[in-house]
Parts: sequence; structure tokens; C-alpha cells
Amino acid sequence: MPLNYTKKTLNHFLKPRNIGEIKNADAYAEIGNMVCGDQLNFSLKVEKGVIKDIKFMSFGCASNIATASIMTEKVKGMTLEEARNFDFNTITSELGGLPQQKIHCSVMAVQGLKKVIDNYEKKGEKVTNKKKVNRK
Ligand code: FES
Repeated sequence: MPLNYTKKTLNHFLKPRNIGEIKNADAYAEIGNMVCGDQLNFSLKVEKGVIKDIKFMSFGCASNIATASIMTEKVKGMTLEEARNFDFNTITSELGGLPQQKIHCSVMAVQGLKKVIDNYEKKGEKVTNKKKVNRK
């Protein structure tokens, strides 16, 4: 039985925004779902605590692509803190709903966003620690 996707979901699937990889990104992350086998890779560029750019590559279903596409569109320009609070329900409502069995795709997109922010912040900690070590 075909899945009931909204026009907006199909539009983001067929014309995904922010697809690809940022050259010299500040952080990268990949996230996967063990059950369906789908995967998302993210790259992130941050300037003064604000998401300057975010791109993704998908190895997954139509909903995986559409949810990552709309999420990247929405979080661009947000502070890292605002992006951390971005909820998967925002994705589903922005898309006009998702089939029940595809909700996890939006959850995975948000998990990937949080992971790439974590990786960015961990990188910052390492730089700070390194500076401390160099001063000794
Ligand atoms: Fe698993 Fe879409 S079916 S991410």
C-alpha cells in the first residue's frame, strides 16, 4: 500500500534543500537507524554561535530525505541553543504530517542535528584544552 505523503513532503523529497557536504565544515556527524538501516550525514558551519550553514547526505528513504531537508532549512540562522531545542514535532507539523511508520525518520534527523552540534562543541573543548596545555 503506498504511503500517504503530503505535497510538501514530496516536494522536499524530490527537491531536497541543503543537500551535500560543506567544505571545511566546523563539525561532521553521522547517524543511523539499526532497524531500517537508513543513515544521515551532516556537516555544520558555525559563526558567532549561530548556524551559518548545515548540509546533509542521505542514505535512506523518502521521508529521511524530506525531514532532513526541512530541518536544515529551519535551523539555519538559529543559535546553537535554539537548534538544540528543535523538536521533531516541528518537522512533522511543517510537513503537514507524516505516516505513523515514518515518524522515526524525523526523530533521526533531530538526533543527527544534536550530534553534529555535540561534535562541534567537543571540538571547541579540545581546542580550549590544547591551549591550556600549550601555555604550561
Ligand atoms: Fe528509517 Fe526512514 S524508514 S529513516
